Amino acid sequence: MTLTEAALSFMVPPPGELTGGVPLLGDLPAFVHDPLAFVLEAAERRPAPVRIDLPGRRAYLLTEPSEIQFVLRDGYKRFSKMTPVYRAMATILGEGILTSEGDSWLRHRRMIQPAFHKRRVEAFGGSMVRAVQALSARWEPLARRGATIDVAAEMTRLTLHIVTETLLGSKALDDADEVGRTMDVLQRYANGAIRRLWPVPLWVPTRENRAHARALRAIDALTYGLIDARRVGRGRDSEPGEAVRTDLLSILVDARDDDGAPLSRRQLRDELITFIAAGHDTTANTLSWTMWLLSLHPEVARRLLDELDEALGVDAPSVADLDRLPYTRAVIDEALRLYPPAWITARIAREPVSFGVQRVAAGDLVFVSPWVMHRRPALWRDPEAFDPARWLEPEASRASRPAFAYLPFGGGAHKCIGERFALQEAALALAVLARRFVLEALPGVRVQPEPLITMSPRGGLPMRLGLRPPSARAAA
Ligand code: HEM
Repeated sequence: MTLTEAALSFMVPPPGELTGGVPLLGDLPAFVHDPLAFVLEAAERRPAPVRIDLPGRRAYLLTEPSEIQFVLRDGYKRFSKMTPVYRAMATILGEGILTSEGDSWLRHRRMIQPAFHKRRVEAFGGSMVRAVQALSARWEPLARRGATIDVAAEMTRLTLHIVTETLLGSKALDDADEVGRTMDVLQRYANGAIRRLWPVPLWVPTRENRAHARALRAIDALTYGLIDARRVGRGRDSEPGEAVRTDLLSILVDARDDDGAPLSRRQLRDELITFIAAGHDTTANTLSWTMWLLSLHPEVARRLLDELDEALGVDAPSVADLDRLPYTRAVIDEALRLYPPAWITARIAREPVSFGVQRVAAGDLVFVSPWVMHRRPALWRDPEAFDPARWLEPEASRASRPAFAYLPFGGGAHKCIGERFALQEAALALAVLARRFVLEALPGVRVQPEPLITMSPRGGLPMRLGLRPPSARAAA
């Protein structure tokens, strides 16, 4: 986020005393100017836990895996998730599990968890592959004439298509496009709210606020429409031959808590929008960064293709194939290491907590940044190198790396519920696209990460699309 949590501290009444440091602004200008460079440098130059001086709020960046494990897992109840960024997101996502905590979060997380069990997610494999094949068919003529495409926009459309089909159970691509347009407005709003020091309240009819309200109405109409149709459908006996629906919406409509109570209509809406928002942009970024890194590292792309050709020949991939594709998985793990889409998160201490000799007071902000942890020289050999083979080293050498050194999906109580879904989707997409197409970086185009709520390529990712000549092995 360009102004990140830092700027938001202006919007929140300071809970503790002022932090001293550089008069008035402290680290804010450096943090705002280039957040990615700032946190990396602070992590290496300052003692742990790294103190960040923000006006009106004391903040720390945690750089030791054991500290992160405490905040996210062992002592998570001592920290609140309701940071200003999550509050801004809650104006859109309501009380879905990404933007809630405590008893209501736990109740919903338990009700939703079964929808993400291994078998359920595996059952989405067919839909995922069909969506990638539809994209592949659309790319075919573009590749023949060597067109330039915006890979970031293409990956966003793909992951939205997959999310609307598997989670909402809507086969209509029009729905995916409409969800895409409205999510775009809403995300712009959330990112804008983060950037602005003095946000205009939502009830003031500015152009942006009106667009936000319109987008909310559109997404509400779509989700409530789907929810109502599904609930009515649930009330009658299924027609003979009618397939049992396995999408997330059906599972949520049927879910009951320990007291036998279902989710209300509003709660269903909040969870659905949460899954659309959390479930597409992150995976789209993962795929975009992977494609870009592969274009810069032909030797990695070659090894990936060898593995795919060997394991799949000319067949479409299926979930059952993924265990035989360790290098494909390593490529994705490595892309997530270098460009973790959820590059930073934060918590607020509810009570005083000590990290070594440092006492963190109630109300202090603690940042956890996968971007920082994944590039710490103390934890990674040659941290800046894109080297998927590091993930295939013997277990013993990898075991020396502490837990919470690698955390693209977070960790502990609030760990990403969609990890399995995302990794499966990314591997299947890569297995289809990498064998059919070549994506080349455009000469002279500088690709930079933009650290907003998620980290995407700034201004999109234009690349030249070409057809891959059938490899000797696959053609044989
Ligand atoms: C590569 C793709 C993804 C990445 C990098 C990612 C990353 C994360 C991270 C870091 C968190 C924890 C945030 C925190 O602790 O503050 C999280 C939480 C969450 N993610 Fe993901 N995510 C991805 C894909 C997905 C997908 C596909 C879904 C749903 C289909 C999803 C749904 C969620 C939800 C609902 C939470 C909140 C969990 C809770 O608090 O109980 N994510 N994700």
